[in-house]
Amino acid sequence: MRILTLASGAGSNFQRLLEVHADQPFQGQFVGLIVDRPNTGAAEIANSSSVPVTLVEYRAYEQRSQFEDFLLQAIQSYEPDLIVGAGFMRILPEAIIQRYENRIMNLHPSLLPAFPGLHPQRQALQRGVKVSGCTVHFMDSGVDTGPIIAQSVVQIPEGCDEQTLINLIRIEEHELLPEAVRLFCENRLAVQNGVVHVKRAGPGTPG
Ligand code: GAR
Repeated sequence: MRILTLASGAGSNFQRLLEVHADQPFQGQFVGLIVDRPNTGAAEIANSSSVPVTLVEYRAYEQRSQFEDFLLQAIQSYEPDLIVGAGFMRILPEAIIQRYENRIMNLHPSLLPAFPGLHPQRQALQRGVKVSGCTVHFMDSGVDTGPIIAQSVVQIPEGCDEQTLINLIRIEEHELLPEAVRLFCENRLAVQNGVVHVKRAGPGTPG
């Protein structure tokens, strides 16, 4: 499996993927990283791990369609079997979603379908929910709406502030995303009628 990662920020989830892969390898390889802004932590991590990086900077293009064309070209150039959005903060164009249907994962810091979109941890605190967490799902053309692969729950302590909740959820993300990627690489995810079913590990399958 050729795994391509998309990221916009610090890249702690990307780093964690590389660490888990180094420790207990997936049946796959991390062939590249695409970032949509310069000077990201994610790109630094890729550079120090010899993972090729492509910058497709949104602001560099006059029209959104140009950005989308270059993004599609950049993605195709890596010939990925799986695309992983690890903190990628842009909505992907329909052409990419369709071409890679059920092969693009996204990580989102809430228990979807609750709190899609921006600042989900803030939304959760403002709503006063007592648990939140994180979700890995296949991307579809909606905002954080695609078939759910895996979720992890976080208890929200009384008086919790936004940064504390971000940190608590990130701890869970660092376990959840590598596990979802591993399941994909083992061909254990099947999507039927918008629902992801996780197949049991077969003989010879680790885990
Ligand atoms: C993660 O918390 C991820 O869930 C979030 O961005 C963060 C990236 O952290 N993604 C989204 O909000 C996507 N809607 P990282 O750069 O340290 O991996």
